[in-house]
Amino acid sequence: MKLRKADEKDIQTLVELYLQGYKGLEEYAYTHPEDAQAYMNWLFRRDADGMWVAEDGGRSVGFVAGDGRWFSKREGGVVGAIHELVVLPEFRRRGIGRSLVEKVFEYFREKGLEKAELWVGDENTEAMNFYKKLGFEERDRFNYWVRMIKRL
Ligand code: ACO
Repeated sequence: MKLRKADEKDIQTLVELYLQGYKGLEEYAYTHPEDAQAYMNWLFRRDADGMWVAEDGGRSVGFVAGDGRWFSKREGGVVGAIHELVVLPEFRRRGIGRSLVEKVFEYFREKGLEKAELWVGDENTEAMNFYKKLGFEERDRFNYWVRMIKRL
């Protein structure tokens, strides 16, 4: 498994990974390819430097979208946001998600950020357990989203 920086040329691949990775979790995701594409464009516009792709044998199998200049209203300052993280189902539980997130932590620390923040669906227990394992703690909620924070 190899991690590499994402490039705008990857957008179509990321759309496919996203749509496949969110099967069964549709209530928390865009399901139309056009919406998913607009979302990927938004992620690149937010912070292209915070995006990495995981490859296995030359195939893209996951990605992370970090954002090193996100103003968190609830924290009252700039934090490192993890907007998106997906690993294809057949490649899960091999440490790929962890490697992607650790890459983003490194990037946030290089920028001098002190906290990482994310929002996860309240019934997405797999992702929540994953993030707890990586040191995130639940802070508060908004509708069906749970906000989690980790000190970097
Ligand atoms: N249940 C419990 N613990 C888990 C699970 C799970 N399903 N998945 C991972 N973990 C924990 C384990 O402790 C694991 O270590 P172990 O396998 O040695 O026990 C540790 O997290 C690291 O797991 P990885 O193998 O690195 O994680 P993986 O590559 O499977 O990716 C991910 C996890 C990205 C959450 C994956 O399940 C996924 O793509 N889910 C669908 C999309 C999604 O929900 N993304 C997060 C949305 S919220 C957001 O991004 C802000």
